[in-house]
Amino acid sequence: FASRVLVNQVGGMGISQLCMNSVIYTVNQQMPGPTIEVTEGDTLVVHVINRTPYPLSMHWHGIFQLHSGWADGANMITQCPIPPSDKFTYVFTITGQEGTLWWHAHASMLRATIHGALIIKPRSGRYPFPTPHGEIPILLGEWWNRNVDDVETDGLLTGLGPAISDAFTINGSPGDLAPCGGAGMFEAEVEPGKTYLLRIVNAAVNAELFFKIAGHAFTVVAADASYTNPYDTDVVVIAPGQTVDALMTASAAPGRYYMAAHAFESKTVSNPPPFDAAMATAVLRYRGVPENGAPAAMPALPPYTDVVTAGRFYWSMTGLVRPGDPVVPKTVDHSIVVGFGLEQASCAPEQSKCQQFAVVASMNRRSFLFPDEVSLLEALFRGVPDVYSEDFPGSPPLAPAARKATSVRKVNFGDVVEVVLQNEAYNAALGAENHPIHLHGFNFFVLAQGLGRFDPKMKSTYNLVNPQVRNTVAVAAGGWTVIRFTANNPGMWFMHCHLDAHLPLGLAMVFEVLNGPAPNLLPPPPRGYPKCH
Ligand code: C2O
Repeated sequence: FASRVLVNQVGGMGISQLCMNSVIYTVNQQMPGPTIEVTEGDTLVVHVINRTPYPLSMHWHGIFQLHSGWADGANMITQCPIPPSDKFTYVFTITGQEGTLWWHAHASMLRATIHGALIIKPRSGRYPFPTPHGEIPILLGEWWNRNVDDVETDGLLTGLGPAISDAFTINGSPGDLAPCGGAGMFEAEVEPGKTYLLRIVNAAVNAELFFKIAGHAFTVVAADASYTNPYDTDVVVIAPGQTVDALMTASAAPGRYYMAAHAFESKTVSNPPPFDAAMATAVLRYRGVPENGAPAAMPALPPYTDVVTAGRFYWSMTGLVRPGDPVVPKTVDHSIVVGFGLEQASCAPEQSKCQQFAVVASMNRRSFLFPDEVSLLEALFRGVPDVYSEDFPGSPPLAPAARKATSVRKVNFGDVVEVVLQNEAYNAALGAENHPIHLHGFNFFVLAQGLGRFDPKMKSTYNLVNPQVRNTVAVAAGGWTVIRFTANNPGMWFMHCHLDAHLPLGLAMVFEVLNGPAPNLLPPPPRGYPKCH
């Protein structure tokens, strides 16, 4: 197998966006960052040099990290961050997965600008669909006119959460409809009659998005780097962390067509808080059509709150099962229920300023507290005491309020884990909202999804034949999702809401997967493994 070596410098870059000149932190002076393209079976070696003033780690979103949990890049879960002016080399082999994934900084809101696509090509060179004429990566992002680390810090200080973004972006640009937005707009050139594979990534920080192209339809063939049965749609809905691979044939009259994205916002309150209602645009241009010709045709995006369209997309897809693919395990070793949501913080006596609106988030009323001296994985490996407790509850406790804890759920290597993810409205004023729940280290089968409260009677509706396989699932506001996975990888695996605003609030937990029968499934930490402080 090939081994790809990449050197990535994370540092400052000047950019002109929305009529302002800003300095942002990027990888190799690019936004989005460089696309990493590998073939299944490759070993990837990435030297990360941190030239920002922030400690950070780099996460390879959706990569299994089989027996390489040290390289997962989850800040304080699998490593201490890389200090400013320091470096760390991530080494991992990509086995048993192909399709579109991505990489991003996993510390504070830095991932708003520090991210890029990670494309895994099949070893056979063949897709389970007709080979497309070309491929078009589409990274959807979110832009603030301020330093994003300050946006996050201010949001936590005021307790009101980060300010809403100033724009959405397609491949780094808000597009020509945004103020001063024309110059960097992304444009894809297509040949009439040819079919293209769109590799769509939602790298936005806090927003699910609708995506459409005027005059063109899609056939979804994969999500989260797992093949799906072909699913025809004219609109894509995508939550932060997710990817969608879709075929699109340039079958319209030669011309220019807008591709556009805007928010999908779903909250179960009558007075929802403001959100970024901007639309990002890019252009699909047929070869031979002049770049500055007639204005492009505009697609009709669904209304922001269109839960019906979103639900149809999220719930209708099924997984493509080929000979040799993993099948749904029929017996379950751990069946747990995880309720999660936001609530008003009850003021601890030691808090000097008790914020009236301060909000905390939790899973089973444990508001995840990051350790600060040693990563959870190192604590597990070296047996460091008192870093975390193994008491994450298997069902939602009746506790009246969330409490801060570094609490993990311990499972044995090879165990099958089923989780009912129940989206809760703990507080009437805050209501419930969609939460994209992401699991590190594993793909999971999505057995069933619904609105309201999960009822054990729903077991009869589980799709055990060809469920979607994902690493991130958008659990509907006030709804539920059942996932199942085999814990075949020793380590500490983060499960958290991929709305970045909810991570420092504690909407997270960790699965501790103990070593398997062979003693060295998890090797010792790699050379140069960062230390805290
Ligand atoms: Cu894409 Cu823990 O994240």
